[in-house]
Amino acid sequence: MHIFITRPVPEVAYRLLDEEKITYTVWDKDVPQTRDELIALSMKADGVINADAYKFDHDLLEKLSHLKVISLTSVGFNNIDIAAAKKFDIKIGHTPNVLSQATADIAFLLLLATSRKAFFHHKRILNGTWGMFQPTGGLGIELYGKTLGIFGLGKIGLEMARKCFHAYGMNIIYHNRTANEDAERELNAKYVSMDELLQESDVISAHSPLTDETKGTFDKEAFDKMKSKAIFINTGRGALHVEQDLIEALESKQIWGAGLDVFEQEPTSPDNPLLNMENVCTLPHIGSATEETRARMAELAARNIIAALKGSKMPAEVQ
Ligand code: DGY
Repeated sequence: MHIFITRPVPEVAYRLLDEEKITYTVWDKDVPQTRDELIALSMKADGVINADAYKFDHDLLEKLSHLKVISLTSVGFNNIDIAAAKKFDIKIGHTPNVLSQATADIAFLLLLATSRKAFFHHKRILNGTWGMFQPTGGLGIELYGKTLGIFGLGKIGLEMARKCFHAYGMNIIYHNRTANEDAERELNAKYVSMDELLQESDVISAHSPLTDETKGTFDKEAFDKMKSKAIFINTGRGALHVEQDLIEALESKQIWGAGLDVFEQEPTSPDNPLLNMENVCTLPHIGSATEETRARMAELAARNIIAALKGSKMPAEVQ
């Protein structure tokens, strides 16, 4: 058995593959492979570990229909045409549960940083504009006792809600496809309609998967319903919000601030106006980027591909 790995991954994955005598080719260049290179290397493989956001659309999956499995090193699988993968009988693995805390840490970090304009103040030191003490300048807003609205209360959303509940006594409301009874019991979280979520939240944190249904949920109409002091956090996928509408909502002070780990287009352009707004804190999609979490993701991705190649049940298959 031979597999193609689209980016170098933590060592644990190679160890597991070696134990199973599965050979691999790893793309270790500093630039992503082109589509043709991806096809050529995958043609020689039985499976692929996709360790970046490379898009496997219908056409690509049809060309690679000999593959038994594509194993993702991510929980999100919006970059795979799942219907096409089913049609060509290619199993898809992903990495749920192992990155919830690390990703929620980044959501919480962005919330704190945004509420105190931390990245803006850091830039003042860097660019020599610290200046004199300003009793009324660059003020943040506090989080104690405020209302956190979670859009998509799954594992990551629950971790974020726990942090906000315990650190700041925040009141938790959420909007989901289904009720989350654990969160209701543990955090007294309340299920609300989408309109209530938008109107009542002081902070909205987006954690839902990106699907046709959730794409563009946070658009002008949504921002118009939010409080003028609201903070919007997105660590899920950039396309959950409409970037231009977010920029306009911030510029017109329709909402107060935003903390973003994800963008519509990644990497985003250094000219993106969001990068230079006082009330916006941005990061380059590092939700899962800790040594421990990335190792757990690599291990699960390896276990998924090994299981699929051996014809056994994958620990985490996308259904
Ligand atoms: C995920 O797992 O979907 C993350 O966004 C990847 O870092």
